[in-house]
Amino acid sequence: MPDCTGIVHMWGVDALEVTTVDSLAADQWLTTFSALRLVRAVLRRGLRDTPRLWFVTKGALSTSPLSGFGRTLDMEHPEFRSVRVELNGSVDDLLPELLAPDGENEIALGLSGRRVARLTRREVGTPGEVDWSGTYLITGGLGGLGIGIAEWMAEQGARHIVLLGRTERSLEAVDALRAKGVEVVVAQADVTLRADVARVLADIDRRMPPLKGVVHAAMVLDDRTILDLDEERFERVLAPKVLGAWNLHELTGDLDFFVLYSSASNIIGSPGQANYAAANAFLGALARYRTALGKPALCIDWGLFAEAGIMADRAAEGNRLADRGIGTLTPEQGTEILGALLGSDVAHIAALRLNLRQWLEFFPGAAANPLFAELHDREEPVEAMEVDAESVEPLVRDQLGRILHLDPARIDRAAPFTSMGVDSLMALELRNRLEAALGVRLSVTVLFAAPTVAALAEYLIDKLGLVDEYADVSTEDLLALLDESLDRVEGGSE
Ligand SMILES: NC(=O)c1ccc[n+]([C@@H]2O[C@H](COP(=O)([O-])OP(=O)(O)OC[C@H]3O[C@@H](n4cnc5c(N)ncnc54)[C@H](OP(=O)(O)O)[C@@H]3O)[C@@H](O)[C@H]2O)c1
Repeated sequence: MPDCTGIVHMWGVDALEVTTVDSLAADQWLTTFSALRLVRAVLRRGLRDTPRLWFVTKGALSTSPLSGFGRTLDMEHPEFRSVRVELNGSVDDLLPELLAPDGENEIALGLSGRRVARLTRREVGTPGEVDWSGTYLITGGLGGLGIGIAEWMAEQGARHIVLLGRTERSLEAVDALRAKGVEVVVAQADVTLRADVARVLADIDRRMPPLKGVVHAAMVLDDRTILDLDEERFERVLAPKVLGAWNLHELTGDLDFFVLYSSASNIIGSPGQANYAAANAFLGALARYRTALGKPALCIDWGLFAEAGIMADRAAEGNRLADRGIGTLTPEQGTEILGALLGSDVAHIAALRLNLRQWLEFFPGAAANPLFAELHDREEPVEAMEVDAESVEPLVRDQLGRILHLDPARIDRAAPFTSMGVDSLMALELRNRLEAALGVRLSVTVLFAAPTVAALAEYLIDKLGLVDEYADVSTEDLLALLDESLDRVEGGSE
């Protein structure tokens, strides 16, 4: 059989268009987890040429995690050149996309024609007025950012705040708020469980002023590269964001605001966090869904926070991301942005510090991603460089040094990558950077097959056909060989 050059994943088309807690769970198996299995199966086959991958959906809310998954897939495995298609019309409309792909990777096909996704910069207008006389619920309220949101709400005038989390814990910040006369209720509940959410809301109804605002900030992380990700780890990370947000959407009534704390990982992709990116993609889709229903909704795809929040405890990872152009916001900057957005007409926005040039330098494959076309003033595409056999090893050292924050000269050419602390994410980065620099396709397992700088350089020299087969031949012998060839050509034998 000829090689497989493309795969069309159509399971998303079968997702139910009516969303319920049950359909949300079932559709994840049908769409997101089947996509994960498919990708892992293709990767494990170690095909020489990776087939292009199309994910087709009908835009049902439950299939929205696929877009976050796909954007991270683009970062981890650009070799799939994956395309997400939302098909709202006839299946015939899909054929031109499959037969003549034009580089667009997020396409909606429908009655209004073909639309493609672009990120654009946006000025935030003047904030709307919020009357803070109600009760305000913060899920993940005892988490790193949650408590800061509560403090900010109290500064704005809120006097009744409910902090929802699964684990009971006492925080000085809660005592401090209470000392200022703010009623703070700590509700022990799991936002993924409908009965728990209903119980907390009934309690508010019974003994507090009407619920007027929700901030959904609950989350868990379980980072793995796609190759190491399984459905259990995926589901664990999806649940608080997907089921939690849906429970809040269904069970709350008239509100002044419904804020979803999401992460920019679902916009720019986040290697090692395909599950988290997928979970956050749902939040953006839910905000747009609520807006279409005429209900308040604001989804903010936050960049990285320093000083508080889960990333404040992951300094090494923060440094690693900073090195890739992702800067940090302070929690105060976050709540200032939140204040500017509340009551505005924005439903879905990303707020992050991103040095696009630095980021693209680290993820050269993303430079051609049309999603960013309007953000960068057409940065120069990263050109594959001219190399000869001597320059390959220094290039490998240099790229590895950047990833490990090491002086390339101090990298032992014979030391196994694992002994230098190269993990699976770093291995992917090194592979992707070498692919971009050399303009060559490399298998995802290349670092297993060639596990040292010396071995990898040798492999690359061979792959690039840079072996100098005449290196040991003297000039006289070379001239003699040349004469011999010319004689043969003139004699008509070649
Ligand atoms: N920190 C950042 O840099 C950053 C960046 C971008 C976006 N965000 C977003 O901001 C939000 C808050 O992040 P964070 O840094 O404050 O995280 P965090 O410190 O880990 O807090 C999250 C909280 O969610 C709670 N939670 C988890 N599962 C839950 C469940 N099923 N039901 C109820 N509560 C649950 C956890 O408490 P229990 O385990 O006790 O339930 C935890 O306190 C998240 O939505 C995150 O995606 C954060």
